[in-house]
Amino acid sequence: MLILGIETSCDETSAAIYGEAGLLSNEIASQIIHQKYGGVVPELASRAHIKNIYPIVQAALDKAKVKLSDISGIAVTFGPGLVGSILVGLNYAKALALALDKPFIGINHIEGHIFANYLQANDPRPPFVTLMISGGHTLLILVKAPGEYQIMGSTRDDAAGEAFDKVAKMLELGYPGGPIISKVAEQGDPNYVRFPQAKMKDNQKYDFSFSGLKTAVLYHLQKLTPVERKNHLADIAASFQHALVEVLVERSLELLAELKLNRLSVVGGVAANRWLRQRLEDEAIKNNIQLFIPSPILCTDNAAMIARAGYYRLSSGQTSPFTLSPQPSLALTT
Ligand code: KG4
Ligand code: ZN
Repeated sequence: MLILGIETSCDETSAAIYGEAGLLSNEIASQIIHQKYGGVVPELASRAHIKNIYPIVQAALDKAKVKLSDISGIAVTFGPGLVGSILVGLNYAKALALALDKPFIGINHIEGHIFANYLQANDPRPPFVTLMISGGHTLLILVKAPGEYQIMGSTRDDAAGEAFDKVAKMLELGYPGGPIISKVAEQGDPNYVRFPQAKMKDNQKYDFSFSGLKTAVLYHLQKLTPVERKNHLADIAASFQHALVEVLVERSLELLAELKLNRLSVVGGVAANRWLRQRLEDEAIKNNIQLFIPSPILCTDNAAMIARAGYYRLSSGQTSPFTLSPQPSLALTT
């Protein structure tokens, strides 16, 4: 079975080929047009997807050295995400499926991220905990079996990636904020400022809240002169990153302990963060935890994870009807 995966839910146009032999290609066109606006402009994203989709699918086929007629099925993101962006990939996938007379399956983007860990050398064996951290989501998920999920915690306000993006904006570092903060922070002192690490009430102890941290960074910046601000930019970035990462690490370890599990999978754009990866590796050794984190290119949005999730669903006989429409607010579980 050979699956063509397509991902267009936000600002990456991506196509990938996955089959029994593993991942054969994963082509990604990141839209740089949004950088000058400081965030994703939905209309521009849709237009860029329309321009990119055909060459990206072609590039994925070429790289994998396969033809469209070799494909057994097509997997495509149908939510959550930007409606206009999803529509481009979904319609393209439907048209291909119709023309080739091949099955297609709509994939939940969040489930796609979880499947990124099934592209590595070792698959995490269920049950395990997944920390899903992206620009739109911050979730602690109990994966009971592939496709069987229980949400154990989520964010009350900003997603982890959103907090990185907003703080980067305050520091005038540009968009997307995560990779830039991560780079700037390498030169900084993570203990320069003690930013708050919000604890939640007992009945919501696996939830997250990053708005207090974001406001604390803003208040701290307001107290500084322009020169102090410039001189301590790296220290502030490192202190912010440290505070946010500690919350993610601590909550994940607490949940593992409560569930008496020792397998942790970490996925989504923020999982590409080097400081977080290091902290998790240290804690995993200390606490005898088996840690699963995809390589950075499979953490941020990509079609490889969509193809992998599609492979799982199509090979178990599931398909989607041609009436499937984009679902911008699709949740992981209903
Ligand atoms: O998973 P993703 O590519 O798209 C969504 O589904 O949202 O995640 C994008 C988010 C952005 O907020 C971006 O700033 C963040 O992931 N991100 C990072 C890093 N790389 C991307 N955050 C922290 N450190 C990074 N290295
Ligand atoms: Zn994503």
